[in-house]
Amino acid sequence: MPWRAAAGQRGDPYRIWLSEVMLQQTTVAAVGPRFQRFLARFPDISALAAAPEADVMEEWAGLGYYARARNLHACARAVAAAGGDSPRDEAGLRALPGIGAYTAAAIAAIAFDQPRVPLDGNVERVAARIFRVEEPLPGAKPRLGALAQGFMADAAAAARPGDFAQALFDLGATICTPRAPACTICPWAKACAARAAGVQEALPAKAPKKARPLRYGVHFLLRDDAGRVLLRRRPPKGLLGGMLEVPGTPWREARWDAAEAMAHAPPQGQGWQPVPGEARHGFTHFELAMDLFAARVGRIEPGLGEEVRTVEEAERALPTVMRKLMRLAPG
Ligand code: ADE
Repeated sequence: MPWRAAAGQRGDPYRIWLSEVMLQQTTVAAVGPRFQRFLARFPDISALAAAPEADVMEEWAGLGYYARARNLHACARAVAAAGGDSPRDEAGLRALPGIGAYTAAAIAAIAFDQPRVPLDGNVERVAARIFRVEEPLPGAKPRLGALAQGFMADAAAAARPGDFAQALFDLGATICTPRAPACTICPWAKACAARAAGVQEALPAKAPKKARPLRYGVHFLLRDDAGRVLLRRRPPKGLLGGMLEVPGTPWREARWDAAEAMAHAPPQGQGWQPVPGEARHGFTHFELAMDLFAARVGRIEPGLGEEVRTVEEAERALPTVMRKLMRLAPG
């Protein structure tokens, strides 16, 4: 993991901060190359602060949860404006845009060796098993957080909070896994109350999730003879805020009929053709089903709030939901 320092060493706070934000909703395997690419483009906090927001959003394309990128950039600007040094304590970190309880504790522990135990899904699971907490998540979260923080009562853990936190993440990712945990090789098996009772696989218990509603959208892919596509930028706040998209209707719970959707087509396009198939994308709070229409013009003339990109540039700059949509349309 390229953000990690050698055992007993402290890593660079900017790299740790970036890795923690990327790892909030994205797997270690997916973060690896994107972390390096991001650092090559924005090597330190002042480079990030100096960059236009649109560049940061585009560099984030494909990673999802785009508020993370917007907040990361806002954080860099806030730290730069305050003289360039990041706060080192959890309270100061939490005051920065988009840094919640987990990220503040993780940065405080890993970058600044503060005696904090950050509570992510791995740590929740380890704590629920060690202490055999039967109460389901998310209700059990405060209790699990307090129990995990209690690990700092151990002098060896408190001497190296950053290594301890990352060791907990690794234990949860490789041994104390959600299914079929490898208890026979677990260094904590003797202390584990869930294992003693044989209930480790059932913990942590989870409250049943509500089904996600389905929403519908219709989008319009306008291409020109120079191999370019028409895109527009979404409003800065909200879902996919500040990201580019293929123009289309709002997303709503009622299906669109084609004539109604056509009112949202870019006016320059004529003779819109339905593209066979449907693209689906899961967001946190709803599932989206998208239809696509395509048209071609000689040369796209973008209007206000619209941008023109080559297909290759669009592939790189668009969020995954929009890439799925574009993949419906060959050539
Ligand atoms: N998930 C969040 N932070 C992590 C880290 N530092 N190492 C591994 N997985 C993580």
